[in-house]
Amino acid sequence: MQKVTNLDLRTVTDEDPLRICFVCLGNICRSPTAEGVFQHIINKNGFSSLVEVDSAGTAAYHVGEPANSKSRMVADQNGVALNSKARKFEYSDLEYFDLVIAMDKENLRDLQRLDRKGHYRSKIFLLRDFDPVPGDREVPDPYYGGINGFEVVYEIVLRSCESLLDAVRPHIKNGSDRS
Ligand code: 4NP
Repeated sequence: MQKVTNLDLRTVTDEDPLRICFVCLGNICRSPTAEGVFQHIINKNGFSSLVEVDSAGTAAYHVGEPANSKSRMVADQNGVALNSKARKFEYSDLEYFDLVIAMDKENLRDLQRLDRKGHYRSKIFLLRDFDPVPGDREVPDPYYGGINGFEVVYEIVLRSCESLLDAVRPHIKNGSDRS
């Protein structure tokens, strides 16, 4: 898929913010990194009251755990705090969130399986649908590897989240006086 630039989103206000959930397998490495990085970018741009950011996992192995220590270390080194507590993505999340953004194709397939009637198809993306750098569209799973894999994840997530903000900015700007 080409980089996504046009999103079909409702008008957003302070009372009814845009809701974005990042999804990976365990909700301890990639999606908490995306949640923390995107929240950081949103705060820096003055949009914190207009966008709600969350993350979840398709599996329940790590429910209740904080983000992985290597994910936290790499994020910390870049001035980003990861404050998530792992939870499992639920069917009701498909209704609640405006955008559900998967880290890899397996996560995407699991979300599409959960959306068995296809009602929420237009909300579900891969994070790398927004990546300005072409690739295999996946954020690689760093869980079983060394620190370098976590640094690669951070770089992919950072540039993709900056590009995601560019895609949502027209919709959140319409709902506020911010420039
Ligand atoms: P994540 O990484 O999906 O980016 O949170 C993983 C975390 C845990 C496992 C696999 C991937 N696991 O097999 O326990």
